[in-house]
Amino acid sequence: MTNSTNNKMIMNENKLNKILLITGGAGFIGSNLIRYFLNKYPDYKIINFDKLTYAGNLNNLKEIETDPNYVFVKGDVANSQDVKNVFEEFNPDFVVNCAAESHVDRSITDPDIFLQSNILGTQIMLDFACENDAENFVQVSTDEVYGAKFKNFSADENSSLKPNNPYAASKAAADLLVRAAHQTHGQKVNVVRSCNNYGPFQFPEKLIPLMILNALTDVDLPVYGAGKQRREWIHVEDHCRAIDLVLHRGKSGEIYNAGTGNERINLKLVEYIVKQFPGSQSQIKFVADRLGHDFSYAMKSTKIHQELGWQPVKQFEAGLDETIEWYKMHRDWIEAIKSGEYLQYYDKIYKSRLTE
Ligand code: NAD
Ligand code: DAU
Repeated sequence: MTNSTNNKMIMNENKLNKILLITGGAGFIGSNLIRYFLNKYPDYKIINFDKLTYAGNLNNLKEIETDPNYVFVKGDVANSQDVKNVFEEFNPDFVVNCAAESHVDRSITDPDIFLQSNILGTQIMLDFACENDAENFVQVSTDEVYGAKFKNFSADENSSLKPNNPYAASKAAADLLVRAAHQTHGQKVNVVRSCNNYGPFQFPEKLIPLMILNALTDVDLPVYGAGKQRREWIHVEDHCRAIDLVLHRGKSGEIYNAGTGNERINLKLVEYIVKQFPGSQSQIKFVADRLGHDFSYAMKSTKIHQELGWQPVKQFEAGLDETIEWYKMHRDWIEAIKSGEYLQYYDKIYKSRLTE
């Protein structure tokens, strides 16, 4: 046993409260996760380590920024010195790695940063978690690593990885590095693979918040292709509960799928959203499809149900109505985003599509 392992075990014997390092905590899932953990574990100290990319938004955490159990540290998971500093300063017991470039369309036009943050960043986080004998490292992953649904097959945790876009490929590579850390060093790790998340504080580049934002502001609603693709939806709070269970009770080295069965056809979902804005002039516009667009995904989530007792609780349409209401009530949050690089991004992805 190394000295550092020994010291840490002695420290932990007297320690009830834990230090949890969440990377990407200023993003959509990370910020919901921080609120969830602060609420559920009043004895934990939460360190939010985030580079503040276009998707990182400290406005997502306004109401908890002065909480004595919360600390924000600006840094890049792909920069060893930044990561070293945060580990030296806080010596975290747990790590949840949410930090990533997360948007498929951006990965198609600009893949490099996905390799940097999602692959190299994960390896660097793993290395420091290993060196510091972290009690667990949870990698927040995605159903996209299994690739598009094939016939009636649903992927379980042992299914092969067949990612079809640069984002999904970078996430699959990261999952394999997590596996390798466990096999090589016996490192305590888990992977959680969820389907499409929705809920408050989601950056309006993703389908649901983009459609809500456009309907709110009377802008056309760009549906890719004929809108026949399907996605399976999980409310972000259900996802947070899954991460919590896996972090504390997951069997070391294991992967857990977290799906809901709430699959919807994109067009039907957009029609549902637009109906919630009766006075709006927004119209659905069918635009050029995403390259290599996965038609749908399919995962079995039996393992997390049986081993950890996790079940999603949020009914989809109820969760969607709440989410629409949240965006209606948070116009300031939206306006602050729209004043940044968002408009340039919107033009890059949609301008030619909407004028074709
Ligand atoms: P997001 O884009 O809203 O947030 C990502 C956060 O990571 C931002 O705060 C950003 O600043 C930060 N970040 C990016 N690169 C970084 C770097 N190099 N160093 C430090 N911080 C960095 O993403 P999200 O939707 O909240 O997704 C979070 C995680 O969950 C990602 O790993 C994503 O792959 C995964 N995931 C997302 C979904 C979904 O539907 N949104 C589903 C399954 C899995
Ligand atoms: O499946 C989990 C994944 O879900 C996560 O790993 C990713 O981080 C997350 O971005 C999400 O990926 P998708 O590509 O499924 O999400 P997105 O919201 O971009 O698109 C959902 C569907 O809606 C997809 O079929 C493409 C379609 N779409 C999307 C946008 C942004 C449109 O028709 N029009 C649009 O403008």
